[in-house]
Amino acid sequence: MSSHSLLLLPGDGIGPEVMSQVRRVIDWMGANRGVSFDVSEDLVGGAAYDAHGTPLHDDTLEKAQNADAVLLGAVGGPKYDGLDFSVKPERGLLRLRKEMDLYANLRPARCFDALAEFSSLKPDVVGGLDIMIVRELTSGVYFGEPRGIVKEGNERVGINTQRYTESEISRVARSAFELARRRGNRVCSMEKANVMESGVLWRDVVTETHQAEYPDVELSHMYADAGAMQLTRWPKQFDVIVTDNLFGDLLSDIAAMLTGSLGMLPSASLGAPMAGGKPKALYEPVHGSAPDIAGQGKANPCACILSFAMALRYSFDLGDEAGRVEGAVEKVLADGARTADLMQKDGGSPVSTAGMGDAVIAALDAGL
Ligand code: IPM
Ligand code: MG
Repeated sequence: MSSHSLLLLPGDGIGPEVMSQVRRVIDWMGANRGVSFDVSEDLVGGAAYDAHGTPLHDDTLEKAQNADAVLLGAVGGPKYDGLDFSVKPERGLLRLRKEMDLYANLRPARCFDALAEFSSLKPDVVGGLDIMIVRELTSGVYFGEPRGIVKEGNERVGINTQRYTESEISRVARSAFELARRRGNRVCSMEKANVMESGVLWRDVVTETHQAEYPDVELSHMYADAGAMQLTRWPKQFDVIVTDNLFGDLLSDIAAMLTGSLGMLPSASLGAPMAGGKPKALYEPVHGSAPDIAGQGKANPCACILSFAMALRYSFDLGDEAGRVEGAVEKVLADGARTADLMQKDGGSPVSTAGMGDAVIAALDAGL
């Protein structure tokens, strides 16, 4: 296996369509930049369930564990709504995150100038926005025990448990501080220490980690509900936000929508560094499988292409090449190419998924 092994998991819905445009960017890198990848592909989510009766086959997990990076499209769809909880497409994604121990989920929310008008907020509130949410991804109420639906007397009780250990908190805090040092050097930690013991511990451990290892970074704390409010009031006050699994799920959706375009946002989920110093990593667009437009060539491939750019930067140390891809996407938008999701206010006709891919490849060529 070459040092650039990449496992593609297109998944369900629009996943395969957007992934096929990423393949073109990968091929372009090989042909024009001498950066080649050992690419393999497998099933995840509903597609894996259809083939194997499980949303993540053990062989696929093993391939993911051994790859330098995994790029996932999207999982889920109405076809699978009736399935037992344990084999739903989403369980495949959650198992990948958990078993690969991908505890730090990086969700950048960047507002492209060309798209500021699409935000539900005023352009001056979101113009130039560039924040990063670091969401804890392998613990908290998503995984805590006990859980389940049990019978108590005459009624059923639904149970989930919010649980965090000190080491789970300190390691994700470190990820946030490290990132902040490479950005605006500010971290805001969000929890509900006013009502939850897990929040009290979260605040303590983040503070201790800061004092011991990152005193040069500016740290602030906010209750997560106030944080949600501040995110919509004046999001540019933030640089890096670090928070738990469930609050991070909610806050990152808010942050994503500030940018006006869910179809543009990538994410990275990073684990502990491997022998070579690179973290285990899974990259995926923030958007879902969009079953309503799947198979119609309408989906915006940019989030998946930008997720590949994050892989270039964080897994392969190819920051220059990542910048090339990001620059190409920015140019395409500035030049006016719009997939259907970016057409709310513009006139004109949208470009297709492949048309957006064409434009990105042309912009990459132009940048040579
Ligand atoms: C996300 C999604 C997932 C989550 C679902 C698909 C399991 O909402 O990645 O934000 O809740 O983590
Ligand atoms: Mg979510």
